Amino acid sequence: MSELTVKEYKVWDLPTRLFHWINVIAIIMLMFVGLIMLNKSALGIQSTEAKIALKELHVIIGYIFAANLIWRFVWAFIGNKHARWSAILPGKGFGKELKSYLESVKAGKPKQYVGHNPAGRVSILLFYIILTVMMVSGMIRAGTDIYFPPFGSYAASYVAKEGVDPATIKPYDKTYVNAERYKAMGDFKKPIGTLHIYLSYFLMFVVLVHIAAVVKAELAGAHGLASAMLTGNKRLAEKPEDEA
Ligand code: HEM
Repeated sequence: MSELTVKEYKVWDLPTRLFHWINVIAIIMLMFVGLIMLNKSALGIQSTEAKIALKELHVIIGYIFAANLIWRFVWAFIGNKHARWSAILPGKGFGKELKSYLESVKAGKPKQYVGHNPAGRVSILLFYIILTVMMVSGMIRAGTDIYFPPFGSYAASYVAKEGVDPATIKPYDKTYVNAERYKAMGDFKKPIGTLHIYLSYFLMFVVLVHIAAVVKAELAGAHGLASAMLTGNKRLAEKPEDEA
């Protein structure tokens, strides 16, 4: 087969590509700051101010990550057909399609797709679920740890001693908080923090699998799968399943 049969298709529109790379950069930064936070003692970070500053930095990057993710979910209603929910969520007949795709991979001749192949769909959906849980758990911790939006003012009002203006409550300072309520808030936020940390490890694992799958597909002949996320175009040697 010659290069002449290779055809180029438009696949990822600009907003989808921007989302992808902003997401990659934000997650690397969140993980980096998160790991510093986890290893603060070993790194000699002891002052409360420094601990709060790290959390604030993590949360500010977290807002960028969250805004980008929410924007992607909105774009899935308006973007091109490969960016839409219909190309991500498993619909009717998906089980069969996935089975047939996996069989074609096993046979060493993977079916070609312009957009996500069925296995890719499953992994994108898994990513979105993990990222959404990371976003929500992070925001709850941001509210209950350092009284940052969107839940911070609610958390501060809950723990404030009677007659105290919740806006005057500072992270880690127990002077103006009701001890019982502060403990109740601690019990509530603890499992959410644990979920946030363990899910971040699982996310790193899924990211590695994702990178390995892209590299493997690229080596197996899916020319330009990786570069398609930069250029927006994918080159395929065979007629794709998802193109009329
Ligand atoms: C995929 C995205 C994210 C990753 C990989 C991530 C990673 C981490 C890691 C590894 C920690 C552990 C640090 C520690 O507990 O000492 C952490 C804690 C934290 N994260 Fe995230 N995070 C993400 C998203 C977010 C978002 C969106 C927010 C809020 C806007 C957020 C807010 C927090 C807060 C407040 C903590 C401190 C919790 C605690 O002290 O237990 N995170 N994050």
